[in-house]
Amino acid sequence: MLRCDTLIRNAKVLDGSGGAAELKDVALCGGRIGAIGPSLECAASAVTDAAGLVLAPGFIDVHTHDDICVIRNPAMLAKLSQGVTTVIVGNCGISAAPFQLAGELPEPMNLLGDAGDFCYPTFASYVAALGEARPAVNVGALVGHTALRNNHMDRLDRAATSAEIEGMREQLCEALENGALGLSTGLAYLSADAATTEEVMVLAEPLGRAGAVYTTHMRTEAEAILEAMEEAFAIGRADHAPVIVSHLKCAGIGNWGRAGEVLQLLDAGRTGQQIGCDCYPYAAGSSTLDLRQVDERLKITITWSTPHEEVAGQTLKEIAESWSVTQLEAARRLQSAGAIYHSISEGDMRRILAHPATMIGSDGLPCDPRPHPRLWGTFPRVLGRYCRGENLFSLPEAVHKMAGMPAQRFGLAERGLIREGYWADLVLFDPERIIDTATYEQPVSAAKGIAGVWVNGELSYTARGATGNRAGRFVRRGKTAWVQ
Ligand code: ZN
Ligand code: CU
Repeated sequence: MLRCDTLIRNAKVLDGSGGAAELKDVALCGGRIGAIGPSLECAASAVTDAAGLVLAPGFIDVHTHDDICVIRNPAMLAKLSQGVTTVIVGNCGISAAPFQLAGELPEPMNLLGDAGDFCYPTFASYVAALGEARPAVNVGALVGHTALRNNHMDRLDRAATSAEIEGMREQLCEALENGALGLSTGLAYLSADAATTEEVMVLAEPLGRAGAVYTTHMRTEAEAILEAMEEAFAIGRADHAPVIVSHLKCAGIGNWGRAGEVLQLLDAGRTGQQIGCDCYPYAAGSSTLDLRQVDERLKITITWSTPHEEVAGQTLKEIAESWSVTQLEAARRLQSAGAIYHSISEGDMRRILAHPATMIGSDGLPCDPRPHPRLWGTFPRVLGRYCRGENLFSLPEAVHKMAGMPAQRFGLAERGLIREGYWADLVLFDPERIIDTATYEQPVSAAKGIAGVWVNGELSYTARGATGNRAGRFVRRGKTAWVQ
């Protein structure tokens, strides 16, 4: 008789491809999926009865800022408790590696950690640190354009010179050789918005040959969003690299209702090149407090402030009133600070979330003392609220957006699908009960309905909480695959 480590019996298996569920047994051996079949005969040391539950490939959080968190806080409960088995770090132009601090930590690098946490001058040194930290989830990593700018430029409010771009490119190549998934930019931030399209195009040139992706927090998500999309697509075309638009949204009241136009342009672009996007299932964003985004008509909640710790949790409006100043002036006094901006319309968000090119990325901020609820809630919210509750898409489709599609697009080999021989990254959940519980008021709260999470074959989380196993690995870039 076949021997295996774990046997999961009678599960409704959604394999991550988008295909319908099938009732199957799944056997795990040596960290991989050993066998899948209707009733497997196999001697297992652990048997789980999964009757009534869905077994899916572990979710891949394609948009995270967990770079330093996976090392400092390797239990990764916020993600594991959602069924996430792989996080992609290094988004929005900011990455822990390769990075060498020169003076002050530029915004928004401070979203990742404190100055002292940045100790990975090469990508290889970051990979080595991951190996030592043994995080509970797998980690794939992008290289941040802003991190590279910091390494080679004396100031970030100008475009890079050719010599500086050359230095940045050498570091990008070192990272790509060591398995980096691609390059990310954060062109909306003051630390990168002086970069020209040309700067990014020249820097990103090695991506095409390497089969790596270009992801971007675009230059703007407000009025000029279509131009920003065109810029991102042009960079992808020039460098023969797939483009992934990060946290696609129509930001700001003046921009509400434009999801149709935005998705039309996305679809038009997709006919000629590889383009995808990610989205979080909330009508509010979160980042550092940006004076350019202060709008008296919007609810903006302050999550932290270096000079005014005491105001965390209050709205900018409340703070401004109690100080008898304008919101803009209050925002100035709060710097540096973090904020949640209720600047997205629910209708636009739903249309983008439901689009077939959209993957799911939490964009959670793990260092924030009062984080946006997306950090703990994203994946169960997509399944419970938007799939089961609102019927925006089918369950097989939802799982595909969270597992199969991201693995193919980012080149995470032998992950994202339930297939014999693939890594045994799995999540078992109750499709009738799964739901997020994190709210804006109580953001640190584990989801309901997750019955089991296996990472590389190790049971890492159950309904009773984390098991203490930490079996995550660094995931090197493999071949990307696109089905438009
Ligand atoms: Zn971003
Ligand atoms: Cu981000």
